[in-house]
Amino acid sequence: MSDVISFAISDWNLACPSEAQERATRALEAGKVLLFPQLRFPIENGEAQLLSPIAAGRAKNVSLDPASGRVRGSDADPAELKLLQNMMTRWATLSKKLVCQLLPHYAMALQQARTSYRPVEVAGRPTSWRKDDTRLHVDSFPSSPVHGRRILRVFTNLHPQGVTRKWRLGEPFEALAQHFVPSIPGPLPGSSFVLNALGVTKSRRSAYDHFMLQLHDRMKADADYQAKAVRESFEFPSGVTWMVYTDQVSHAAMGGRYALEQTFLLPVEAMRDPARSPLRVLEKLRGHALA
Ligand SMILES: [Fe+2]
Repeated sequence: MSDVISFAISDWNLACPSEAQERATRALEAGKVLLFPQLRFPIENGEAQLLSPIAAGRAKNVSLDPASGRVRGSDADPAELKLLQNMMTRWATLSKKLVCQLLPHYAMALQQARTSYRPVEVAGRPTSWRKDDTRLHVDSFPSSPVHGRRILRVFTNLHPQGVTRKWRLGEPFEALAQHFVPSIPGPLPGSSFVLNALGVTKSRRSAYDHFMLQLHDRMKADADYQAKAVRESFEFPSGVTWMVYTDQVSHAAMGGRYALEQTFLLPVEAMRDPARSPLRVLEKLRGHALA
């Protein structure tokens, strides 16, 4: 069975049938990628100019804070910045609508985090091993602890020439946690206080965040594991949208550019089956509460 499950949704604004809601919840929490082949993000007047190598050079990796509406990470001029802000704000709104209509029981607890625009080609980008997202990994934020909350991400491929976004998917979370987590030492006493006091983290790093960060690093640093753990390669065509729990699903981005991404955080208790969460899986492995 593929790790990517398709849903025939073609309108961002329509309510989803309850059958689709059930199927989506079960698949998502089981670690599948939900694919929406007919859900194209609408590009509006003038925005096409953002999808070019020159604009990409100015934009790099742009983020939008949904609370303040501020765009960061771009050297674009004011006119282009306004276009970026409009496009990303619309994406933030539509992707939230999609999550709330497909997963309505998440809606009350869902927290909208950063929106990002990824205009730069993934393949061949010079980077450190830790930031190299062409290596299989699960997402963990070094400076923004999540304290056990889920990381749910929605992506769309905007490539104007129809180039796919290439991903690899790895083994199920339970298997990779069993492979890496038992040998990871716990956090040093007082370290979360020190990291927070020094400004390395925006809040105290929980034991859960410590283990997830270590898991992320150990996966990426292990060349042998990287070579053997790929289960499936998948190419997301231009014009499609997809959604996945990136804290749970082992993934690598191998190629592509011009993608939009929206991050949501969800408390574990809001899940249909919290036992599927990385928090509960790691707690079972370590034998005590981690957040
Ligand atoms: Fe990732």
